[in-house]
Amino acid sequence: MERLNVSLCGINLDNPVIPASGTFGYGYEFAELYDINILGTLSFKGTTKGPRFGNPTPRIAECTSGMINSVGLQNPGVDKVISEELPKLKKCFDKKVMANVSGFSIDDYVYTCERLDDIDEIGWLEVNISCPNVHGGGMSFGTDPKAAASVTKAVKSAVKKPVIIKLTPNVTDIVSIAKACEDEGADGLSLINTMMGMRINLKTKKPVIANKMGGFSGPAIFPVALRMVYQVYEAVNIPIIGMGGIASAEDVVEMMLAGATACEIGAMNLVDPMICKKIIEDLPEVMDKYGIKNLESIIGGAHNG
Ligand code: SIN
Repeated sequence: MERLNVSLCGINLDNPVIPASGTFGYGYEFAELYDINILGTLSFKGTTKGPRFGNPTPRIAECTSGMINSVGLQNPGVDKVISEELPKLKKCFDKKVMANVSGFSIDDYVYTCERLDDIDEIGWLEVNISCPNVHGGGMSFGTDPKAAASVTKAVKSAVKKPVIIKLTPNVTDIVSIAKACEDEGADGLSLINTMMGMRINLKTKKPVIANKMGGFSGPAIFPVALRMVYQVYEAVNIPIIGMGGIASAEDVVEMMLAGATACEIGAMNLVDPMICKKIIEDLPEVMDKYGIKNLESIIGGAHNG
């Protein structure tokens, strides 16, 4: 249905709905539930240079209208992602996929992005400088404009595919980080990753999560994400993927009015594995209800006038 089409860094998406990294595996797991070719694309599990076992358990804490995770970038490493995971995805997904990349040094990011840049099925490199659950990497690059700029510059000079930098909300001024990435050539931005949070178990009187703190996501953070997308849209001229607590077709429309070109759906995949399909199916009716002819025309619409 053409009225749902959007263009993300020069690649056409049938619709703006993208399952967020870390909530949709490598995609093929969900192909048992529905035809994942209906998605705009999907962002696969955060991938690092080497394999990672992840953080000690418990890694998850439930909250009102959301959850906290401290997974710690568990993944098989870029070699196995290329040799084992992507061939399985290719069997059930005909579209370009988004590769999500994490690292602990600039060299890590460059190495992993260079490896993935050679893979035809990958359309975009989503560079995660916002993981709150690891030491010495992840979010430490995303909380300082200079560090964010350095990662962006190094990756951009090493790859050909569009580079989308994934930003953290755990900063006082997300706009300065977004602009630093744009200035070094980022092709797009995705925001927001999770917000730092914690829970304490009243029986043990200790933090619920073994790592004490983790990243809070889910519908409770939607207004914060929307506010940050709105602010960043005013400051940059590159596309934004909005994410953070999106749970419905109405939320997608709201996020696009704030300035998102596409939307990632994260925590809600863990509540309802069919949520992305449902949102795509609901979009035409919601568009009709609000007099929207096509989605591309509403991007940033809340800024006009
Ligand atoms: C994790 O693996 O800890 C989550 C990834 C992220 O929040 O970026």
